[in-house]
Amino acid sequence: MRPVALVTGGTRGIGLATARALAGEGFDLALCGRREEAKVSHVLEEIRARGAEARYFRADIGTSDDRVRLVARVRSSFKRLQLLVNNAGVAPDVRADLLEAGEDSFDRLISINLKGPYFLTQAVARWMIEQKEQPGYMGAIVFVTSMSAEAASPNRGEYCVSKAGLAMTARLFAVRLAGAAIPVYEVRPGIIRTDMTAAVAGNYDRLIRDGLIPQGRWGEAEDVGRVVAALARGDAPYSTGAVITVDGGLTIPRL
Ligand SMILES: NC(=O)c1ccc[n+]([C@@H]2O[C@H](COP(=O)([O-])OP(=O)(O)OC[C@H]3O[C@@H](n4cnc5c(N)ncnc54)[C@H](OP(=O)(O)O)[C@@H]3O)[C@@H](O)[C@H]2O)c1
Repeated sequence: MRPVALVTGGTRGIGLATARALAGEGFDLALCGRREEAKVSHVLEEIRARGAEARYFRADIGTSDDRVRLVARVRSSFKRLQLLVNNAGVAPDVRADLLEAGEDSFDRLISINLKGPYFLTQAVARWMIEQKEQPGYMGAIVFVTSMSAEAASPNRGEYCVSKAGLAMTARLFAVRLAGAAIPVYEVRPGIIRTDMTAAVAGNYDRLIRDGLIPQGRWGEAEDVGRVVAALARGDAPYSTGAVITVDGGLTIPRL
């Protein structure tokens, strides 16, 4: 039977590129997002055309009830889950200076980018441990964080804090699940061309032209998806807790 991956925010951007790459590795896909299913049916069709089963579960991962319902629906629908990709995330609606930014945006980002994946992973990890009873079962968990887990941007402090917390979440689950042979990885993208960066694309174009990124180009969603698929294949079994940067060398300290 084909393994199943749950990719949060899997119908566009990095999540969609990840879903496509996982379909290519033989996974069936459970995708979640905020939009209604009618808006993403073309995405499901496209993934099915690659030979994978694809089902959509509308859920706001920042809401406790939605997370519980999401896991229950994936469970009753697929009966199995081998991979969780915690990809869904949001940027602040407005980039505001650290001395001005308000609490609403902070609370929103912490609940979607940090609390959501933290408790979703808790629920999924319990289910994965149950599934270990089945012979040959292999589970794995990936967190998509950001270079903002480390790089300080005072015009979006709440995003940086949420991603720094998510990086620690990946490490915590790596330690907790090591004994259950469930590897946990952190994939840390740099500047990736998606809807999230569209509003600031001109700014990044200029910075990239001026040499910000050693590899000299934007990251594409596929650059991240291919890394997640490589981890999902099981080729890094002794690397739990590893942080894999996908940033064209942007975060290499330089002189
Ligand atoms: N783009 C970058 O440069 C970059 C760099 C570093 C890290 N990242 C991280 O990579 C991840 C994906 O980013 P992206 O650039 O692909 O963003 P994107 O194009 O804006 O897509 C975000 C996805 O997350 C889903 N999502 C957002 N809030 C959600 C919620 N509350 N519940 C469920 N799903 C939710 C969205 O669902 P809908 O489609 O239904 O709205 C969408 O599918 C994020 O965690 C982001 O922080 C991105």
